[in-house]
Amino acid sequence: MIKQQLDRFKRLELLGTPTPLEKLERLSAWTGRDIYVKRDDITPLAMGGNKLRKLEYLAADALAQGADTLITAGAIQSNHVRQTAALAAKLGLGCVALLENPIATEDRNYLSNGNRLLLDLFDAKVELVENLDDAEEQLHALAARLRNSGKNPYRVPIGGSSPVGALGYVRAGFELAEQIQQTGVEFAAVVLASGSAGTHSGLGIALAEALPQLPVIGVTVSRPEETQAPKVQGLAERTVELLGEPLPSAFNVQLWDEYFGPRYGEPNAGTLAAIKLVASQEGLLLDPVYTGKAMAGLLDGIGRQRFNEGPIIFLHTGGAPALFAYPDVFSAQ
Ligand SMILES: Cc1ncc(COP(=O)(O)O)c(C=O)c1O
Repeated sequence: MIKQQLDRFKRLELLGTPTPLEKLERLSAWTGRDIYVKRDDITPLAMGGNKLRKLEYLAADALAQGADTLITAGAIQSNHVRQTAALAAKLGLGCVALLENPIATEDRNYLSNGNRLLLDLFDAKVELVENLDDAEEQLHALAARLRNSGKNPYRVPIGGSSPVGALGYVRAGFELAEQIQQTGVEFAAVVLASGSAGTHSGLGIALAEALPQLPVIGVTVSRPEETQAPKVQGLAERTVELLGEPLPSAFNVQLWDEYFGPRYGEPNAGTLAAIKLVASQEGLLLDPVYTGKAMAGLLDGIGRQRFNEGPIIFLHTGGAPALFAYPDVFSAQ
């Protein structure tokens, strides 16, 4: 059983109690379909988000290896880098991040507000790079440089999406399965943003074992199904290999890829409408890069009757600090 195997891995206990599973009453009434939200946007570190779950395992691994510095990479507005830098500060470790500008913008808010502003508060060192086309190699080179200056760096991959990081979402999947069972409700699907894939792969593994009938639908945020599907599948395979278990037979990668255009980091009209709707109906903040796109997919999926019968769960993976990097897209509406 995968659930038992998880206990073999070192984990820093940073999350505390399970994040809530709540019904969105007004949005449900508005759409005519019951919608629940799993609140991973309120994990307890530095404005929340999904990465703390991955970092519980990654940082435990880093400490076990005697690391003194966490190094990672992402977009200038990366939520992942923000949460990694915050955890490094909390643990008394250094943090160095390679940042790229994926939308080639010179907007002052994108370059210095939102998540980027917080990196300075956490004392993270930032190196701007042309692109992260070969992020693994770039992180290796950074690690070598730091070792030459006497540091002991630990590489946290983009999005925390290694098998060790994905364990955090295997654990989250079992937590959600228990909450679902407690409601006694038969849900139609779980919907989430699928990016660097650790969240999707990990959650998918656990739910395939615990609730094999429940579809897990990833809404892509950066690439089409054709390239995202092997990414999710490959990481799931490497994660169960680490766990020493076979991939549950119910595991299958379902992706909706009509909602991420024009590209990663750039919202479209549907993204902005979903953010505005959820904020105005529920006082709940989504973000322009991940959860706004995933929610746009969920809402469109209801309209187009893409779901089975039953209430839908939205995994809220966080990201609201990035809203402050994109004020103009809303005012242009
Ligand atoms: C707010 C938010 N949602 C979703 C994701 C996607 O998660 P993953 O990279 O594990 O696919 C990210 C990743 O950075 C994120 O910051």
